Order: sequence, then structure tokens, then C-alpha cells
Amino acid sequence: MKIIIDTDPGQDDAVAILLALASPEIEVLGITAVAGNVPLDLTARNARIVCELAGRTDVPVHAGCDRPLARDLVTAEHVHGKTGLDGADLPDPQMPLAEGHAVDFLIETLRAEPEGSVTLCPLGPLTNVATALQRAPDIAPRIGRIVLMGGAYFEVGNITPAAEFNIYVDPEAAKIVFGAGVPLTVVPLDATHKALTTRARNDAFRTAGRVGEVVAGWTGFFERYDKEKYGSEGAPLHDPCVIAWLLKPELFTGRDVNVEIEVDSPLTRGMTVADWWGVTDRPVNATFIGDVDAEGFFALLTERIARL
Ligand code: RIB
Ligand code: CA
Repeated sequence: MKIIIDTDPGQDDAVAILLALASPEIEVLGITAVAGNVPLDLTARNARIVCELAGRTDVPVHAGCDRPLARDLVTAEHVHGKTGLDGADLPDPQMPLAEGHAVDFLIETLRAEPEGSVTLCPLGPLTNVATALQRAPDIAPRIGRIVLMGGAYFEVGNITPAAEFNIYVDPEAAKIVFGAGVPLTVVPLDATHKALTTRARNDAFRTAGRVGEVVAGWTGFFERYDKEKYGSEGAPLHDPCVIAWLLKPELFTGRDVNVEIEVDSPLTRGMTVADWWGVTDRPVNATFIGDVDAEGFFALLTERIARL
């Protein structure tokens, strides 16, 4: 399957990219960087670092939007560190950014590839994808599926009491994407908060070769914040769940529901209002994932990382 990863690396984004690059079932047509966890210059840098780590400098990395559609940028250095990839000491990238803005790459690629053959995998704020849909509405029916990490229902929020970070940063963009009529799979905190790193899982990464050691360094850094905040044994590996869903959807369960995005209220900005119990007649627009087989997820992830 052909995918484009839209991302704001971020240690968990980095692991998701590695999982995709390590999996022969997936052809990564390109990576589009967006401002999110850290500013755009760093997400565009980090995406290239990950490609070089995987020995895949053939994958084009395009820089995209450096701020949300209508809001100031909110970043998450408190979680990911100043560079966005703290936890492993990696050299600056040698590979250049690909020519052209990420939004143009999204539009041109979707117009060039056979209709329905490309899956978009947004792992950060939805600014790039929403901008592409606004600028070129003709691409909506050409997208096979959007599989994104974002939102929450039972888990409610992580950056505010009501909202998950990716949706919170650019709620207007999320409203556009969730309303575009494109087949949509949402991997929310309800699933990713069950994909927790543990000492044993990090040890398994550490012994999974050269790249596994780097992943263990990232998860070791990344988890300190979540362990403190949630008192949990480890940190949720959010973004790799998106790629794992592509590879082994049977590891996940969810429901086809309506999901609306709050854009007006300052208190609940970015909330994903999922009609999980079907109490409205709002149209179904998403497959909303509620659970994951964590053991199966980590087994898949570790086995693939070891191949790099
Ligand atoms: O809320 C978790 C999401 O926000 C993940 O994608 C993480 O990388 C950050 O972007
Ligand atoms: Ca991310």
C-alpha cells in the first residue's frame, strides 16, 4: 500500500516512520512535515534524521505549514525536549529537504497516483492536509483513506482537560478533515493510552539492533513525562499505532461513529465529540478506534524495528 506520512516528529512520530520504512507491505511516497510538537524547522529536520537513521534518504521530505490555519502555534517541548527528538544523540541530517511545499506535494501526488490508491497518515496537527483539501477540493475523492492519530473520547484530553494535542493545535484544520467525506480512521488516546512502553518493552527495543537502541533512547526520554503525569509504568506510543493499524488492523477494535470538532468554545477547543453511543442522528464520518492488543502491537513493532 502507498502512503504519505504527515508528521511533527516527535519521538513517537519517529518510531511510526521507522515502522513504516521497515515494513515491505508499505511504500512511503513521501513525508510531509508540519509544525506541532516543535516548530517546523525542527520537524522538517527530525523527519530527515529518521530517514537517514533507516538508511532511506530516497524518501522525499517536504516542509509544510509552520503554523495552524487560524491560531498561534502551540508546541510540546515539555514532552519531546527542545529538539523534539531528545533521548538519542544523532547527527544533523545531510539529506536536503525535497523541493516544493508539502501541500503542493500532497496535491500533486494525489492527482498523479491512481484514484483511491494513496492512504494519508497524519500524525500531528492537520494543517497541511486541511490546506491541501481547501486549495484542491478535487483531491478528496482521490484519497483512499485518512488514518490519523488524534482525538479522544473516554480519555478526553491530554493538552487540556477536553482535547488531545494534534486536534487542539489546529481545530479548524481538523474540522475540515473530519468534514471532507474521505474514509477516515481515527486512532485516539483511547487506543494509544493502552500502548504503553514498559521496561521490558524498552529492553526489547534495546536489543533489537542499531535502530532499536535509538528507539529505546527516545522512549526512555519520552516516557519520563507521561509516567510522572499519569503515574503509569510507561508512556503511550501514540503515532506508531497508525502504521500498526495499516499493517495489522486486527490488533485494533473500534466503531463507525460521528465525530465533530469543537472550534468555538475556549474551554473545549479541539474536543473530538464522538457519538460513541449513537445518541444523535449525525452522519457517521469515522471509524473511531477504542482498543488495541498492546502485546501484539509491541511484538509487531519490535520485530519490524529489528529489521532496520
Ligand atoms: O497527543 C499525542 C500526539 O501529539 C502525538 O502525535 C504526539 O506526537 C503529538 O503530536
Ligand atoms: Ca505526532
